[in-house]
Amino acid sequence: MSEAATRATILRLLSHMRDGKEVREYLNRFSKLDQSRFAVVKVGGAVIRDDLDGLAAALTFLQTVGLSPIVVHGGGPQLDEALSQAGIESKKVNNLRVTPREAIPVIREALGKANIAIVDAIRDQGGRAACIPTGVFGARLLDEDVYGRVGEMSGVSLDLVDAAVRGEEIPVLACLGETGAGELVNINADHAVAALVETLQPYKVIFLTETGGLLDADGTIISALNLASDRDWLASAEWISGGMRLKIDQIQALLETLPLTSSVAITSPEGLSQELFTHAGAGTLVRRGERIIHETQHDKIDWDRLEALIEASFGKAPVKGYRDQLALDRLIVTEHYRAAAVVGRIDEVLYLDKFAVMEDARGEGLARAVWHQLVDYAPRLYWRSKTLNPINQFYFSQCDGAVRKGDWTVFWRGEDDISRMPGLADHIAALPETLVAVP
Ligand code: ARG
Repeated sequence: MSEAATRATILRLLSHMRDGKEVREYLNRFSKLDQSRFAVVKVGGAVIRDDLDGLAAALTFLQTVGLSPIVVHGGGPQLDEALSQAGIESKKVNNLRVTPREAIPVIREALGKANIAIVDAIRDQGGRAACIPTGVFGARLLDEDVYGRVGEMSGVSLDLVDAAVRGEEIPVLACLGETGAGELVNINADHAVAALVETLQPYKVIFLTETGGLLDADGTIISALNLASDRDWLASAEWISGGMRLKIDQIQALLETLPLTSSVAITSPEGLSQELFTHAGAGTLVRRGERIIHETQHDKIDWDRLEALIEASFGKAPVKGYRDQLALDRLIVTEHYRAAAVVGRIDEVLYLDKFAVMEDARGEGLARAVWHQLVDYAPRLYWRSKTLNPINQFYFSQCDGAVRKGDWTVFWRGEDDISRMPGLADHIAALPETLVAVP
């Protein structure tokens, strides 16, 4: 890979990770996978047009560290241009490009060019890639009277893909379909990706776009969606555009064909390595995720699992008798106990006794989902944290106020009677330790 591009990627990674462990762990995790099942990367036509070198550098970097993504590209803008040059009108019905017979050679040429452009750009960066313009997507004509030569997916053949991966080349597939009779037909890129993903069952599906993620109402990238708990919020969000809703529905449908461990990432070529190798990522990570449960009954809680979660999260174990001494208000926990908020009471005041997240759940948006439910449930809330705890940066962004008391910083939010504050802060700082070093 070109030295400058590798350097740039490594520098970007270094400046965005918390420690080297993070990158190493992700690299280990991804390397253990059968490489033809690691990731399907969908590239839109606009990225090919505007950011071909960035795209090639990002893909080649993955290859350099021993990973083998499978690339699928569309070519919307390229097709529009080629068809208009050929004097063929581009019309869409139900989001499908109506394709007269004479458009097929034009489409083949335009997609073929885009395909070669990607492969050449990867080779220019010193990577290895294989052109696979046809031979993967089986299709049958959808309804020739309405759509012309548009196919719907009928099967996926992985021979060429597997051969490329075995030969340590990045397979680059164009979205062109072939009928049983060997005739080329136009297929929708999203449908092609869905069929490929269903057949391959990859660990990651990555959409490389120019925006680099899904945007919220303010135009900021949404870091993660945990569909199991975010669905209601999304359904009622008025700011979501029709196009974005379609995208989310499409992602959800993709995830439903995959194991729970698989995820979808939407990022830019530039953000790709950071998205893959750091907890925080750079883009939007979408998972089917876990439901979030509120448990108020002491005996319905799996205390062993909760204590294991606390120990994994803090590197310290709850003191003996923790579960019995706790004045439990409720536990807000993900269904597999990978993130939790333990809410206690001090008289009438809600007190966050523990906020714990598994290392391997960081970056998934689970902690954020639990936190949202926590502050919804407890608009007025107090908590404390060791003054040197790195999570405090997050707590400072969430609290209305904080005060340092020796080793502890006490935080609060939503307090309407500030006269209560000093007494409570003293009381909270003086609460006994609840965690001990593990022998
Ligand atoms: N690197 C991890 C992964 O690929 C976490 C990514 C988190 N990304 C995010 N946008 N929150 O699974």
